[in-house]
Amino acid sequence: MRWLILLFAAIGSVANAANDTFLAQHWKRPIVASNKAASNKASAELTPESCGGCHKQQFADWQQSLHAKAMGPGVMGQLQGFSPDVLNQNNQLCLNCHAPLKSQNESLITAISGKKTTNLHQQGIICAACHVRNDHWFGPGAKKVDASVKATHKTSTSHKAFKSAEFCASCHQFDDDGPKLDGKLLQNTYVEWQNSTFAKQNISCQNCHMPGRRHKWQGIHSKAMVLKGLTLSGELISQTNGQVKAKLGLINSGVGHYFPTYVTPRVVLQGYQQNKAGEMLEDSLVEEEIMRAVSLDLSDEYFDSRLPPSGQLVLDYQEQWDNKATTLVLRIVVEPDYFYEQFYAAKLEADDKFVGRELLKQAQDNAATSAYVLFEKSFELKAVNVP
Ligand code: HEC
Ligand code: HEC
Ligand code: HEC
Ligand code: HEC
Ligand code: HEC
Repeated sequence: MRWLILLFAAIGSVANAANDTFLAQHWKRPIVASNKAASNKASAELTPESCGGCHKQQFADWQQSLHAKAMGPGVMGQLQGFSPDVLNQNNQLCLNCHAPLKSQNESLITAISGKKTTNLHQQGIICAACHVRNDHWFGPGAKKVDASVKATHKTSTSHKAFKSAEFCASCHQFDDDGPKLDGKLLQNTYVEWQNSTFAKQNISCQNCHMPGRRHKWQGIHSKAMVLKGLTLSGELISQTNGQVKAKLGLINSGVGHYFPTYVTPRVVLQGYQQNKAGEMLEDSLVEEEIMRAVSLDLSDEYFDSRLPPSGQLVLDYQEQWDNKATTLVLRIVVEPDYFYEQFYAAKLEADDKFVGRELLKQAQDNAATSAYVLFEKSFELKAVNVP
């Protein structure tokens, strides 16, 4: 049997090497999707709307995804602070991940110089950013395209690297020498995945984030997605001798990396008592945070309570029963953009002449309204003892 295992291991590493070679070339910056960029016809063919003419499902999904919104007011507001020269010299800076085509960088610089552009940069991570290089199309080997549609892209190559987790690492993983805090990279999603049992079972990013090859990429902003990754429980254990005891538990049972993977979200577990009018009795509140808390200038890490795959946290509630309380509430709140909300507030306060102010205000509003209640359970408290 031993040689068989060795043989499979060898095939595995050859396959990975083939992916690595393909991806190193595919994600080399600057990314040129079309050499005919000068022609309006060629650049029109590369817009997501144009692809959407035939690939309706992918286009509809993508439009709703955060990849399509990657050049929103938070990014654009900050970019307005840079001069066209800096944007040119810094090798695409933020756009490497937020709008990675060379033609998108050119469009951004033209826009910031106040001239007319294609505005291709505003569309964020467009189809061509993942699928087109030098006027040649790439994909995983298409399963289902409407048979009545004839392809315009006559030259296309299918490569299995599209199904691999390494495909996503280009933007969701910093290199080893990237910025670190407390010895840990600021962006480490691929490595977190690699160390998880999901990698060993060959469950890639796409299996969870693109099921059925759908192009939605749901993550922490989607309550349904977050619920899929966790096992939650809340129970009242006892109410005796004037004490309320309860437990609120959260297990990272199905997130393929840390929950959450970035420094930006915050998750709060809460237990508190409520009076008849439904008001929280402040003194009874007990909280636990799940987050990687960092300073706004990213120079300091305060604490890191994120949960690795199979990690868990239990909020142990043991408080005096407040005799005005009629209900115990256990709940979990997710604030996907917690860091950004504070970050924009600080930036707006520090500089009231900043050119990107209007956009940053908009981004701050968006960040402040993305929070949601993930879980909530109420228990009636009675003056009598509960066994
Ligand atoms: C060209 C760079 C790039 C590539 C390649 C890329 N992403 Fe992203 N991804 C981003 C950026 C930038 C954002 C944040 C967009 C925003 O909110 O402005 C993002 C957002 C996401 C989110 C949403 C996160 C949230 O906050 O809810 C998920 C999930 C995601 N990506 C998964 C993937 C997966 C899976 C792949 C591989 C198939 C992938 N990405 C490939 C750049 C990229
Ligand atoms: C290595 C890839 C990468 C680079 C380079 C990068 N980002 Fe991002 N950015 C991401 C990913 C992935 C996310 C989504 C995860 C998150 O929210 O932290 C994101 C999210 C964001 C968000 C929140 C979502 C939104 O659209 O409002 C902002 C703002 C942002 N980035 C700004 C910037 C700016 C400004 C720069 C350049 C100084 C930059 N980023 C450079 C990958 C990158
Ligand atoms: C006129 C219709 C049409 C347009 C426009 C179109 N496609 Fe396609 N595409 C097809 C058809 C049909 C197929 C099925 C495979 C084939 O016949 O080549 C396909 C296949 C694909 C595949 C799968 C290739 C593989 O090997 O897995 C990808 C990825 C793709 N298209 C991306 C795009 C992108 C990105 C755009 C826009 C820049 C685009 N397409 C524009 C019709 C179209
Ligand atoms: C962030 C990268 C990324 C972007 C942006 C993106 N795709 Fe894809 N696409 C992928 C990956 C990865 C797969 C393969 C997923 C898999 O095999 O699990 C894929 C698969 C496909 C397929 C094959 C579908 C099938 O059922 O076989 C088509 C067609 C396609 N994409 C078209 C598009 C179009 C059109 C857009 C824009 C509206 C787009 N893609 C945007 C990464 C991307
Ligand atoms: C086993 C399923 C699974 C796998 C594999 C997986 N994810 Fe996730 N991912 C989730 C779930 C569930 C969430 C929502 C909870 C959360 O935000 O952590 C999520 C959230 C995210 C987010 C949102 C930001 C954040 O702070 O959590 C990004 C970005 C992301 N995943 C990227 C990736 C990338 C890139 C890979 C591959 C290297 C990957 N994921 C592998 C299930 C998975």
